[in-house]
Amino acid sequence: MPSLPTTVGKVLEVCNNPKTSPIDLDRVIQLDPVLMGRVLKLINSAYYGLGTQVTSLVRAIIMLGVNTVKNLALSSAVLDRVSSKKDFRALNMEGFWRHSLCVGVTAKLLARRRGIDAKMVEEYFAAGLLHDIGKIPLNNALADDYVRTMSTADREGLALFAAERRALGIDHCEAGRIVAESWRLTGAIADTIAWHHDLGGYSGEHGDILRTVAVANFFANREGIGFSGNLYPEKPSPEVYSLLGIEKGILEELVGPVNAEIEKAKVFLKLGA
Ligand SMILES: [Fe+2]
Ligand SMILES: [Fe+2]
Repeated sequence: MPSLPTTVGKVLEVCNNPKTSPIDLDRVIQLDPVLMGRVLKLINSAYYGLGTQVTSLVRAIIMLGVNTVKNLALSSAVLDRVSSKKDFRALNMEGFWRHSLCVGVTAKLLARRRGIDAKMVEEYFAAGLLHDIGKIPLNNALADDYVRTMSTADREGLALFAAERRALGIDHCEAGRIVAESWRLTGAIADTIAWHHDLGGYSGEHGDILRTVAVANFFANREGIGFSGNLYPEKPSPEVYSLLGIEKGILEELVGPVNAEIEKAKVFLKLGA
């Protein structure tokens, strides 16, 4: 797994401190002109639809919040590092990132509909976008075995993570936990990567984001938006919906908005261009 750029590591470190101000974050991002360019490009894209051109980073941080800008920096760096075609063998790159974007925007739309604070909504997006990151090292290190694991899952009607555990002795949540640790990710994003297939076993403080991503993941797989190698996703339990305070039917209304939002979020894939 490639490492994250040093500046992004610093961004995460600074943002782990709850006292971090927009000026502190601005100072760290300024150190890396490429990162700064990407963050401004995202902020000015249709994805945010701010309606005004923002050229000052510190102003952008004040408008969007420290946490949102941290997530933008992280998401753009991850996609930049791990989205190149040559890294993909068993999984198809376009399908995988479309799945990831779909889970990110679905989680975000669900959070918005539930009235989650606007400054927190981007945390739902980033957790959804990165939830399956553990599939990348499995795919790269064990390509042939991974292809076989996916076909076993399809043949036997198993959820992919269960087939991974059986065939490889590790699933993508465990692999993702190792990646997150090596990147020093913490909080909701790290927990989502490690626990999104084991909601019952999770006892941390980010259960709301985890449950939202689990529902979004089920939706993306069921609708066949993108491809994650998981044709038999586990259905979220009724308890998950009731804890979130939503009805299952909400998913039917999301198909149109999700597709529209994915188009806008594609800017994340084109940042290097
Ligand atoms: Fe997964
Ligand atoms: Fe997934």
